[in-house]
Amino acid sequence: MMLVLALVLGYLLGSIPFGLVITKLAGLGDIRAIGSGNIGATNVLRTGRKDLALATLLLDSGKGAIAVIIIGLITGWAEAPMALAGAAAFLGHCFPVWLKFKGGKGVATFLGTLLALNFFAGLIACAIWLVTAFISRISSLSALVAAAVSPLVFYVGFGEAITAIAALFMTVLIFIRHRANIERLMAGTEPRIGGKK
Ligand code: G3P
Repeated sequence: MMLVLALVLGYLLGSIPFGLVITKLAGLGDIRAIGSGNIGATNVLRTGRKDLALATLLLDSGKGAIAVIIIGLITGWAEAPMALAGAAAFLGHCFPVWLKFKGGKGVATFLGTLLALNFFAGLIACAIWLVTAFISRISSLSALVAAAVSPLVFYVGFGEAITAIAALFMTVLIFIRHRANIERLMAGTEPRIGGKK
């Protein structure tokens, strides 16, 4: 029962497309017609509105964290339901029923989920993203590097097998969701953070 609640609550929270809602409310039109077409913070930044990009980042990561924390509070911080809630929030962001299952790439929700599952492991993942972004100035590359390392951080660094499996599941999906970005990275045409696509 608790696992079903984690799944449903996580999915519903994760499925709120904050980037789309925020940019629409700001009168910028449909973010899916701008830049990469993604609904995430990186693409919101391409509108030139740093404030909206930051809000998208915080809300998209926050919804993953909140899902994990609510289920943690209910279950007495049980690892499996919390990991499931985080993975479900991530799935909700990537495949929201409200957008005919065409959602985002999941990076902010992934990082927010990791922070709530294990704050220090999540911080390491965020630091890897930041260092890669500082060096490369490419959001997708930073996401791919952080996602690739995160399951290992949980398993090797903290001995959390269930959370590591949830992280690995999200990592695989992040790579799949970044197919077009990976092609552009290999072609050397992936735009830098803040640049237009
Ligand atoms: O978080 C998404 C990012 O990794 C890539 O976004 O808009 O450049 O495809 P975008």
